[in-house]
Amino acid sequence: MPWTPLEITELMGLTKIIIMIPKTNQISNGVEDLMQKVVSLCKRRGFIFPSSEIYGGFANAWDYGPLGTELKNNIKQLWWKKFVQSRDDMVGIDASLIMNPKVWEASGHLKKFADPLVECKNCHSRFKVDDLAIKTCPHCGKKEFTPPRQFNLMFKTFIGPAEAQSNITYFRPETAQAMFVNFKNVLDTARKTLPFGIAQIGKALRNEITPGNFIFRTREFEQMEIEYFVLEKDWEKYFEYWRKEMAAWIKNLGVDIKKVHEVEVSGKEKAHYSKRTIDFEYEFPFGQKELYGLAYRTDFDLKNHFKEPPYREEGVDALYPHVIEPSFGVDRSVLAVLLEAFKEEKERVVLKLPPKLAPYQAAVFPLLANKPELVKLARKIYDDLRKDLMVAWDDRGNIGKRYYSQDEIGTPACITVDFDSLKKDDVTIRDRDTMKQERVKIDSLAEIIREKLEK
Ligand code: GAP
Repeated sequence: MPWTPLEITELMGLTKIIIMIPKTNQISNGVEDLMQKVVSLCKRRGFIFPSSEIYGGFANAWDYGPLGTELKNNIKQLWWKKFVQSRDDMVGIDASLIMNPKVWEASGHLKKFADPLVECKNCHSRFKVDDLAIKTCPHCGKKEFTPPRQFNLMFKTFIGPAEAQSNITYFRPETAQAMFVNFKNVLDTARKTLPFGIAQIGKALRNEITPGNFIFRTREFEQMEIEYFVLEKDWEKYFEYWRKEMAAWIKNLGVDIKKVHEVEVSGKEKAHYSKRTIDFEYEFPFGQKELYGLAYRTDFDLKNHFKEPPYREEGVDALYPHVIEPSFGVDRSVLAVLLEAFKEEKERVVLKLPPKLAPYQAAVFPLLANKPELVKLARKIYDDLRKDLMVAWDDRGNIGKRYYSQDEIGTPACITVDFDSLKKDDVTIRDRDTMKQERVKIDSLAEIIREKLEK
């Protein structure tokens, strides 16, 4: 597949950032623009910054700014609420990133967690074989490569001061293994019976050969994973169940399900532990790519970690449960949500985020910043609302500019305190999507905003 660099130098000050965009038929200039516009908005409004920017950046590493952190936290909290808090059959853990290296030996990652890598003989750039469908170097255009060799994606490090072979360990490349090695601990303390799941949200690290496309593929990223333990005879039933749950979750994020394709992963493409995998692929502007994955990991992991069957239940012989694994990337969720929400209308740019994901759920403005009585009442409303909600305050410029600014970051409701408010205890509330304004009583504001968040 030929690639074209989309440079966004001018948007990033001194940092030169190149996003590689494959030239496929599905990509028009319009969608290339979309990626550029979203990256620009992220930087301009404090969603996502290039990492270590004042030192010229650090290739393919990104930092979440104030608004990006809120958006990302809202996605993670929603996920936890849906898949852990509101279910009887699920518990959560939060494990370490550095585990005993024996974990990775047993899990097969040390031997098998590798991508085939080739090197361009002309410019020595290295690529994943999968990314070079028509074997042309995206950097120099030459077509001569070294034969593929396996490159292990595990990030190595040393424990303690001596960089000796015996001190080598690894950062986890998936959160999943902590759920397997803690299986008995969780079982003994949480007293669950099959089927049940263990969930975790956390960082994973992979020494990716070709990171890129903004936060789509990075070396450090976050996952939201579930290991759902079932009897072997039930695996197909629960695979189908989680397939539907994942599709429903994607819809709930405001992502157009028509742009999501469930793709059966073929034998040689599947991870070493999986008997069946479905990828949920989303039509990103740079091509249709994996958003999430669903795998049937059989009893592969538990058998490798536990010599004896770890599951016991009254009246049942000890056994190794089988595992269905729905795995969700946090950063890819953020990217898909932003791409879907970004809209350009006649006079404004608006992020039509689902209100529950918006960094600020409301904004409060005094009509005029130089009228103390308006500021005082607006400030009281602001302080009351932010006991439970994330609320923005803005008293700069005119109301039109403030609306523009809040639309661009997706704030679903803007509240303005004017002179009538002082007499009638009411305010104007303006809806982000319809831009309609209505007058409502101050004491009904919290309820009105809550209703918006339910949507
Ligand atoms: N435990 C199974 C597992 O890790 P995976 O398909 O390798 O499976 C799961 O990863 C999800 O993690 C992916 O669907 C994607 O959302 C996210 N992910 C994987 N590698 C990533 C990377 N380098 N950057 C950002 N997200 C990544």
